[in-house]
Amino acid sequence: MMKKFTTTDFKKLKQNGEKITMVTAYDYTYAKIVEEAGVETILVGDSLGMTMLGYEDTLQVTMDDMIHHAKAVRRGAKRPFVVVDMPFMSYHGSVEKAVENAGRLIKETTCSAVKLEGGEQFVDVISAITRAQVPVMGHIGLTPQSVNAFGGFKIQGKDVAVAKQLVKDALAIEQAGCFAIVVEGVPAPLATLISEKLSIPTIGIGAGVGCDGQVLVLQDMLGLYTDLSPKFVKRYAELRQPMIDALRTYVEEVKAEQFPTKEHEFALSDEVLTEIKESIEREG
Ligand code: KIV
Repeated sequence: MMKKFTTTDFKKLKQNGEKITMVTAYDYTYAKIVEEAGVETILVGDSLGMTMLGYEDTLQVTMDDMIHHAKAVRRGAKRPFVVVDMPFMSYHGSVEKAVENAGRLIKETTCSAVKLEGGEQFVDVISAITRAQVPVMGHIGLTPQSVNAFGGFKIQGKDVAVAKQLVKDALAIEQAGCFAIVVEGVPAPLATLISEKLSIPTIGIGAGVGCDGQVLVLQDMLGLYTDLSPKFVKRYAELRQPMIDALRTYVEEVKAEQFPTKEHEFALSDEVLTEIKESIEREG
């Protein structure tokens, strides 16, 4: 049994130059698989809106959705560090509401940290949540909750102004108390620069190898979610087709009465069966 991963391990790994691994999970079965594979961190991402609930983006995901899935993940994963996303509009209205929602996510799910999207403009929120002793993972770059503001899922930081702002954002949210920052959808050299400037680790997705760790959406990397195929995803397996094949075989076998066979049945002795039949006949 490997040791439980904690917030202090994030900084330690960065200092030792060892990369951090994170993937998303949204339920008990997958969380158990992720833990068994030795992944250090699980993100219960609001990407569940797309992969689990079939929305086009993450904007409709609610606090109750996040809590429901995060509780299931925590039942499956004991050793990994589990981070739960704060959904769209759960930390935008007021600092007080943001702290209340962060507290609710931790209390009701027993996850270890929350993640929220945004830079400089969320410094107050991040400071207040960390003051309440809830660790915060930041998230900058192509932040999916800003899809409408960005005019689509577009790589961020290709021009000087936006790139400089992203560096400022990263430094500001580190200062506000984040213990790690997801850097999503930014040019690799910019993500490397940000990683070098921070003392806390960056976890990259579509941000190149210079980040201190990497995160992928589980359904993407296993070839299960195929509605979108971003360039930055590596498919480590193609599980969709074998699953379809298995289900087709099941349909064929049920139709052909090849399933279930004797090995899947529960037996009843002839003697008991005869007694049941006679009793039914007697009693009508
Ligand atoms: O919700 C999510 O899965 C995420 C990752 C893409 C980092 O935020």
